[in-house]
Amino acid sequence: MKIAVVGGGSTYTPELIDGFARLNAEVTELTLVDPAADRLSVVGPFAERIFRRYGHAGRISWTTDLDEGLTGADVVIIQLRVGGQNARISDETFPLECGCIGQETTGAGGLAKAMRTIPVVLDVADRARRLAKPGAWIVNFTNPTGLVTRALLDAGHRAVGLCNVAIGFQRRFAAMLGVEPEAVTLDHVGLNHLTWERAAYVDGVDRLPELMAAHLDELAETVVLPSRILESLGSVPSYYLRYFYSHDVVVEEERGAPTRGQKVAEMEATLLEMYADPALDTKPELLAKRGGAFYSEAAVGLIGSLLSGDGAVHSVNVRNNGTLPFLSDEAVIEVSCRVDGSGATPLPVTPVGPHLAGLIAHVSGYEELAILAATLGGRERVYQALLAHPLVGQHDLAEGLTDLLLAENAAHFKWV
Ligand code: G6P
Ligand code: MN
Repeated sequence: MKIAVVGGGSTYTPELIDGFARLNAEVTELTLVDPAADRLSVVGPFAERIFRRYGHAGRISWTTDLDEGLTGADVVIIQLRVGGQNARISDETFPLECGCIGQETTGAGGLAKAMRTIPVVLDVADRARRLAKPGAWIVNFTNPTGLVTRALLDAGHRAVGLCNVAIGFQRRFAAMLGVEPEAVTLDHVGLNHLTWERAAYVDGVDRLPELMAAHLDELAETVVLPSRILESLGSVPSYYLRYFYSHDVVVEEERGAPTRGQKVAEMEATLLEMYADPALDTKPELLAKRGGAFYSEAAVGLIGSLLSGDGAVHSVNVRNNGTLPFLSDEAVIEVSCRVDGSGATPLPVTPVGPHLAGLIAHVSGYEELAILAATLGGRERVYQALLAHPLVGQHDLAEGLTDLLLAENAAHFKWV
């Protein structure tokens, strides 16, 4: 079985490789594809050392030639970042000029990232359709995952979108309960980076109320929100909900502080130096300081279910198709799904109350407009998407942010 990793020069790649190696996943060839030859020449040999250390017999290869990397793949993992950390730093700063949060997947920064990224990912997927094995799966980890996955599905690709937020909660809850992670099934609902954990079932019993009673402050701290919100909702929002529930507080924090992108750029330089050490054959501790914890286990588990058809449950990004009745069928949602050879099918979802449904519907409406802006371009479409976003919403802000977004990203948009 061949896996192609597009964006394989990422400093995250060793996390993924570690998962395939440690879990001894069935893979005969793993090809890292990246336009940055300098990164590949460091990450590639390091990936090979990790495989050998765990005694994994699979072959690791690397190439700057996208078509070559995609040829004959059974699974294509897409984890790219158009414009690198500099573009991310721009997404994290320009919205602040209008008093809005700067974040790479949420708000105006998220729209900018979607607009840079979607055309590139669609091109990769089109090539994969021609060159990969017939029926090959695309596993998309590229942010903003919900939007990118929706664009892939709209274009008719066989794609599933992945994020590590749900698996992070599954692992955390399991540790608190003293059970195996696989024993915990989450009622995980919403859109990518706009999700809530409403229940945590172990042997059919919801243990979340008990967990929240015993660990409320700790859980609130992990998602950086006041415990009052968790108590009132009776669920655990993801960390990304702080950009909504604590918007103005975050804007104040972000003003004048170094951005996450700047910190990550520094970490990446150090990581690449470490990876270049021929004696290193395990992922370094520093990698745990990135936000991608359990990404590898999520990816290995999901790919295993898609190929073996074992019907295991994974929280992934899929078409709504009536699962959340207040959204269009075409919307992409992030929920717990049963996964087999035909793809991911949402488990039945208990009705979503108005305190969550309103925000989910609002952001989903924005996402529909964001896809149009990303695929068709045009200033008007950018303005319309921003006007529809709950964190923007006002005319003056939408106009100001549109100008800034276009000025910052002109080099990426053919139509500007
Ligand atoms: C989490 C999110 C990812 C995001 C990452 C950022 O893992 O689910 O979508 O890319 O955090 O981590 P970073 O270390 O780049 O800030
Ligand atoms: Mn994510």
